[in-house]
Amino acid sequence: MPHSFAYLSVPKLIELIQDIGIGEVMAGVADYMTDDFKRWPEFEKIPRLASHHKLGVVELMPVNDDHQFAFKYVNGHPANPAKGLQTVTAIGMLSDMATGYPKLLTEMTIATAVRTAVASAIAGRYLIADGADTMAIIGAGSQAEFQAHAFHEICGISKIVVFDIDVAASEKFIHNMTGSGLDITIATHVKQAVDRADIITTATAAKKKASVLPHDLIRPGQFINAIGGDCPGKTELDVNVLEMADIFVEYEPQTRVEGEIQQLSENHPVTEIWQVITGQANGRKDLDQITLFDSVGFAMEDFSILRYLYDEVRARGADETLDLIADPDDPRDLFSMLR
Ligand SMILES: NC(=O)c1ccc[n+]([C@@H]2O[C@H](COP(=O)([O-])OP(=O)(O)OC[C@H]3O[C@@H](n4cnc5c(N)ncnc54)[C@H](O)[C@@H]3O)[C@@H](O)[C@H]2O)c1
Repeated sequence: MPHSFAYLSVPKLIELIQDIGIGEVMAGVADYMTDDFKRWPEFEKIPRLASHHKLGVVELMPVNDDHQFAFKYVNGHPANPAKGLQTVTAIGMLSDMATGYPKLLTEMTIATAVRTAVASAIAGRYLIADGADTMAIIGAGSQAEFQAHAFHEICGISKIVVFDIDVAASEKFIHNMTGSGLDITIATHVKQAVDRADIITTATAAKKKASVLPHDLIRPGQFINAIGGDCPGKTELDVNVLEMADIFVEYEPQTRVEGEIQQLSENHPVTEIWQVITGQANGRKDLDQITLFDSVGFAMEDFSILRYLYDEVRARGADETLDLIADPDDPRDLFSMLR
């Protein structure tokens, strides 16, 4: 018998998400991820391994607890859409720590967009002002709809104002969000997008120090969810914006190198979001505070969605299996498989 493990191809993952429903998936992944943030000290954590190129980055993101190991292969190439390719693509794996054998191999381009949006919305639970109902999205590329669904499902946001320098991207967003129940409008400039927003999500892609949100447009009480600055030399917010806000991060050693805060001194105070989730640190303290989640994407978030997907496919019998581990009858006689 070959040793087979679960495999989620792109069509199978799409089928699974459509069967469960995007809102339910967001809520389910949020439960898994919140549980994992609550047991943060149990994880063996290292900043991801990044191989840089002038056009982008290729990264490996490992993490484990005592039971399971996860890793993701992911790229970030902002010039790719001009070539008909995506900015971000990924593949991920979950395995068993006790044997080292794989449990699940899956597409992770869609899963990354889901987990990124869920991580932001979990942070939002603690950093958004009470009564918030409107989110501005600056940058309506691949991540945008996922962010909208997560903030709707997890934080109760009902209105979105979207702005992209390419109006076709905003129109794509409107088309994809038809039937979502969210009230959506397109803004023609940044100010119009953020004027009435309680939350500002920046999700742009450019391999440079960009400034997509002028600081004089920001109002007291807003929550800024910055996901696009995630690599050395690739940021979205200028220092003036960062200095106005109380800053929350995933894993400080990684974010110091990759996040918006790479522009600040190394001792500028930041709070890891797990500390807020476990009640060890404050989230939003008052109505006027400007809060900022400097998201770069941490491996534990991949671990959480891999656990969720594994449990869902197993419970539904929805997985295919993949024969990728050589499995000789005698475990010490590998060569016999070639005879
Ligand atoms: N933090 C994380 O965990 C995480 C995860 C995935 C992606 N990302 C990052 O998020 C960003 C968005 O990813 P994506 O897959 O949606 O990229 P994408 O290339 O599909 O979309 C980016 C969009 O931003 C728009 N844009 C660029 N500059 C702009 C500006 N100044 N104002 C308004 N719009 C602007 C582009 O026209 C495009 O539509 C990327 O930088 C990516 O690396 C972060």
